Amino acid sequence: MTHLDNLGREAMVYVENLTKSFGEVKALQGVDLTVHEGNILGLLGPNGAGKTTTINVLTTLVRPDGGVARVDGIDVTTDPGAVRSRIGLTGQFAALDDNLTARENLVLFGRLLKLGGRRARIRADELLEEFGLSDAADRHSGTFSGGMKRRLDLAASMVGSPRVLFLDEPTTGLDPRSRNALWEVVRTLKASGVTIVLTTQYLAEADELADDIVVIDHGRVIAAGTSSELKTRIGGSSVRVRVHGESDRARTVLSTRWPVTPADDDTLGIPAEGSDTLVDVVRLLDENNIAVAEIGFQEPSLDDVFLALTGSTRIEVPT
Ligand SMILES: Nc1ncnc2c1ncn2[C@@H]1O[C@H](COP(=O)(O)OP(=O)(O)OP(=O)(O)O)[C@@H](O)[C@H]1O
Ligand SMILES: [Mg+2]
Repeated sequence: MTHLDNLGREAMVYVENLTKSFGEVKALQGVDLTVHEGNILGLLGPNGAGKTTTINVLTTLVRPDGGVARVDGIDVTTDPGAVRSRIGLTGQFAALDDNLTARENLVLFGRLLKLGGRRARIRADELLEEFGLSDAADRHSGTFSGGMKRRLDLAASMVGSPRVLFLDEPTTGLDPRSRNALWEVVRTLKASGVTIVLTTQYLAEADELADDIVVIDHGRVIAAGTSSELKTRIGGSSVRVRVHGESDRARTVLSTRWPVTPADDDTLGIPAEGSDTLVDVVRLLDENNIAVAEIGFQEPSLDDVFLALTGSTRIEVPT
């Protein structure tokens, strides 16, 4: 991917050979990434991969040791103030004052950005509406559920109408419903033209939201591409099936059509080409009078990605 877009403009976020160490720990060892205007980049990696450090460099909170990091063409080290005026950040841990109401929190952020009192109140109400929090506007954020807090935190990072938004693990710890609500908000922001960099430990989340995905581990990029490119590389999703009793016979039958991988828990994995594969598996087993106990699709997990990309799982298996 080039760092220029198809109009010849530089990408909204541009990072090249970025390095950062904390004492002995090499948090970033030459990270490259590019995000074009209006796109979402998913920065995917396990604990300690360097996700937050990358975000912190781009949001001017941490000074890199080497490499280039530019936002909207502006270097984060030479003009951090100009970078800050263009960005919003929702950190890994909420930046709210739990003793204030939702509205008061947003007004406070507006005042910090030097909006006048009236303007700050108008902006707060706009955001409460946009993020589905109007009904909770006068409740203390300390009484909010995890999902509501995350939404309010995200609203706070949008007070200054930034062109680029950084989200550090926006849905970690949320239940599926709150997670879906947050995904909806992120999609709405993208539709309004905001460029977004989000970090996540979940392939499914990057898959849902991101135009492009960069996988990092130990401060290095180990893969980059669109979700479907990565999935093709790692083999895509599979159909998982468990049968009553006759597991060996089921395996023999299915092996006549697909490469079958048995798992420890007696399930059989079949590479899925689409929803048809599931139906075909059921039909073939049925034709052979084998009763299905359980069947479903399984998306590749982050562990599968690592296995495919590095040839090893992160858990050392004694040989
Ligand atoms: N201020 C710091 N001082 C010392 N070491 C640090 C500091 N910040 C980060 N590190 C180390 O740098 C590495 C990368 O950390 P980072 O927080 O960027 O990872 P991460 O991908 O965000 O992980 P997580 O998913 O746990 O949030 C880790 O080994 C971490 O311990
Ligand atoms: Mg982190």
